[in-house]
Amino acid sequence: MSNWQKTNWRNKPRVQMPEYTDQDALQSVEAQLSKYPPLVFAGEARRLKAQLGAAGRGEAFLLQGGDCAESFEQFSADAIRDTFKVMLQMAMVLTYGAKVPVVKVGRMAGQFAKPRSAPTETVNGVELPSYRGDIINELAFTPASRIPDPKKMLQAYTQAAATLNLIRAFSTGGYADVHQVHAWTLGFTEGEKAETYREMANRITDTLDFMKAAGVTTETAHTLQSVEFYTSHEGLLLEYEEALTRLDSTSGKWLAGSGHMIWIGDRTRQPDGAHVEFCSGVLNPIGLKCGPTTTAEDLKILMQKLNPANEEGKLTLIARFGAGKAGEHLPRLVKAVKEEGANVTWVCDPMHGNTIKSATGYKTRPFDSVLREVRDFFGVHQAEGTIPGGVHFEMTGQDVTECTGGVRDVTEEDLSDRYHTACDPRLNASQSLELAFLVAEEVSRLRTRDDNRAAI
Ligand code: PEP
Ligand code: CO
Repeated sequence: MSNWQKTNWRNKPRVQMPEYTDQDALQSVEAQLSKYPPLVFAGEARRLKAQLGAAGRGEAFLLQGGDCAESFEQFSADAIRDTFKVMLQMAMVLTYGAKVPVVKVGRMAGQFAKPRSAPTETVNGVELPSYRGDIINELAFTPASRIPDPKKMLQAYTQAAATLNLIRAFSTGGYADVHQVHAWTLGFTEGEKAETYREMANRITDTLDFMKAAGVTTETAHTLQSVEFYTSHEGLLLEYEEALTRLDSTSGKWLAGSGHMIWIGDRTRQPDGAHVEFCSGVLNPIGLKCGPTTTAEDLKILMQKLNPANEEGKLTLIARFGAGKAGEHLPRLVKAVKEEGANVTWVCDPMHGNTIKSATGYKTRPFDSVLREVRDFFGVHQAEGTIPGGVHFEMTGQDVTECTGGVRDVTEEDLSDRYHTACDPRLNASQSLELAFLVAEEVSRLRTRDDNRAAI
């Protein structure tokens, strides 16, 4: 929109954002951030948009994953490498199993701010403001830790820049070379899926050897030796987003320079709210979480605001209803999209509708519910004749015990062993790989059906 300005969100009602008490400190941080280089570039965001467009047409598939919230304390090269590695493994399972190009997008290098279900938290009769992510305040349950501190935005920027630097090095520096497919096995010493992965890796290596022997190395070599990996986060803390927003001189459009793709959460998608206003003016691909309370009417307004030119790949709808609920909610939204003739890319987040409290007191997600929601999502799209374009989930390369179930069967009693998340429970490496096999099966079933139809 031509009259869009990066500050316009300030005139709209805002929710889930901190009230900074020290305005001078806030303004000084904003001024500093505005001078820092953007983390991503417009050409990259446009490229991702084109690839998401392909996913919307069923010609590619989006794999979006990473931490619920990145943390300052758990920041390490090893943690980034392991998450990146698991994403590559999952992508390989999908590419090989479902024969579809995979668009890889991390919830990384900026996923710091969290919406909360309540503004305060009470422990043993003491009430304090909620923790809102390391970019805003601290997890420790003390009054001082919970005061929003604008300087944390500078630390978040630095961590995001360092994370992205490492990801860029991994993506092109040989680590992501498909010839390394065996090296990515990452401590998979047990379990049926690890074996299946190794067999697949053997077949890929055989194919590569064959290609080399047949002389098919030069033209495509570069594609096989590097990977395109994008970043994304919820665009929640709008002071941070605004400060990193830059004018793209080539197109004269605004780029949110904090990450390639920005999404709007289920709690901040008010059509007249600050978050929608901000996201309506940037050229990046935008994600929109759709939950049980999303109405067809709101969705129509949001599609119009967030993608007025009806560009392919511009808007990704991330469905997160909970296991067994897609049948109740997704059809009305699919219908709204059809009625508008809107271009969207449908993606399934099987995490956020499936959070429960375990008997042992931990916030967890049963792996079976996660799988079930993925199946539901594919089922509804099959029935509606629309296209499932990808999955979005919370995972880590670390061997955590945060979600119950999976082949290694994490029980409710096991949760306390390695429960490291500061926010929502994540799939561990083994559960993530298992999920990838399931998704690959669903996608290939769909493609076989479409091929059969085409053949008739
Ligand atoms: C999230 O993706 O971490 C999140 C909070 O999701 P939602 O807005 O869908 O609840
Ligand atoms: Co989450």
